[in-house]
Amino acid sequence: MRFLSSVGLPCHPWMATVILPLLLLLVPLTAAQMWPSCGESGDYESKSTYEANLRLLSSTLPKKAASSTTLFATDTVGNVPNVIFALALCRGDTNSSACEGCLVTAFQDGQEHCTNNKDAAVYYDSNPCMLRFSNQNFLATTVNEHILVIGSIESLMNFPKLLLFTLLNSTAQSAVNSSRRFTTSRLDVSSFPTLYCLMQCTPDLTADDCAACLRPYNQYTLKYMDGKKGGRVLGTRCTMRYETFPFFQGDPMLRIINLATEVPPNNNTMPIITANPAPQSQSPVEAPPPPEAQATIQELHGM
Ligand SMILES: *[C@@H]1O[C@H](CO)[C@@H](O)[C@H](O)[C@H]1NC(C)=O
Ligand SMILES: *[C@@H]1O[C@H](CO)[C@@H](O)[C@H](O)[C@H]1NC(C)=O
Ligand SMILES: *[C@@H]1O[C@H](CO)[C@@H](O)[C@H](O)[C@H]1NC(C)=O
Ligand SMILES: *[C@@H]1O[C@H](CO)[C@@H](O)[C@H](O)[C@H]1NC(C)=O
Repeated sequence: MRFLSSVGLPCHPWMATVILPLLLLLVPLTAAQMWPSCGESGDYESKSTYEANLRLLSSTLPKKAASSTTLFATDTVGNVPNVIFALALCRGDTNSSACEGCLVTAFQDGQEHCTNNKDAAVYYDSNPCMLRFSNQNFLATTVNEHILVIGSIESLMNFPKLLLFTLLNSTAQSAVNSSRRFTTSRLDVSSFPTLYCLMQCTPDLTADDCAACLRPYNQYTLKYMDGKKGGRVLGTRCTMRYETFPFFQGDPMLRIINLATEVPPNNNTMPIITANPAPQSQSPVEAPPPPEAQATIQELHGM
C-alpha cells in the first residue's frame, strides 16, 4: 500500500517523519479496534528459531512490563540472525493485570495481522497498551517509528485553533515534566466544548527526547485534525489522543486554565499526506456510533 519507497532513518525523530512516505486510509472503527503497523525488514519462516524466540518473548515481556512500576519493559531475545528486540508500554492510567492481558493479546494480534513479519507494531483504540517487536535494534535509539495519525471524521466546528494548540502544548509540557512521561488533561473554556487529552512517552526517554517526540505531534494535530472532534497520533516512542469526552481512568492530572498567547505557524516541512480510497470493511454493516467513527491517516515508516 505504500506509494514511495523509504530511505534510511536519520537520527532525529522529527526528521524521520519529514522524509518518510505517508498514506491516508479511511477505516471504520469497530469494537476492539486495533491498528497494526507492519514493518519492512522481511519475514520469518514458520517453525523457525525466530518464531520460537518470538514465542519466548510473548511469554515473558507482558509479565515484565506489568510488574514494572511504569508498566513499561524492553527485552532482547536470541542471537543474530534470529535476534528480536521488543518494547511494551501500557497506558499510564491502567493497572498491572489489564496491562499484562493487553500485551498477551498484542503479541497474538501482531503475528496475526502482520503474518510472519519480523517487525510489527500494534496499537489499540481502547485496549491500554502498545507493542513493537523487530529484528532491527530500534531499542538503541529514541527514534519514533511506525507513526499513525488518526482523526475523527466528526467535526468540531468553530473550535478555536488557539484552544487546540493550548491543549496540545500544555499537555505535552506536562507529560515531558512528569517522571513517568505521562499526563492526562482537561481544557474547558467558557462556551466551548471541553477537551480531554492524554500524552505519554516511553519512560526511558529523557525529558528532551520526550519533547522532541511530541513536538511534531502538535504539528500533525493542528494540520490534520483542526476542526475534528478527536484524534490521535500513535508511535513507538510517544502517543497522543484527544477527545470531547473523558476517555481515561481517573480525574485529569492537569487542568488547563492558561491559554497560549498564539498558535505558532505551520511548519512547511510537514510531510504531504496522500488520500486513498477506503478499504473494504470487515466490520458489521451497522454504522459505528459516534464518537467512534474515525478516519485514519496512516503514515507508514520503512525500516
Ligand atoms: C484493572 O483494570 C481493569 C480494567 O479497567 C478492571 O476491570 C480491573 O478491576 C482492575 N483490576 C484491579 C486489580 O484494580
Ligand atoms: C510549546 O509551544 C512553544 C511555542 O511554539 C514551543 O517552543 C514549545 O516547544 C512547545 N512545547 C512542547 C512541549 O511542545
Ligand atoms: C514544566 O517544567 C518547567 C521547568 O521546570 C516549568 O517552567 C513549567 O511550568 C512546567 N510545566 C508544566 C506544565 O508543568
Ligand atoms: C520545522 O521542521 C524543521 C525540520 O525538522 C525544523 O528544523 C524546524 O525547527 C521546524 N520549525 C518549527 C517552527 O517547528
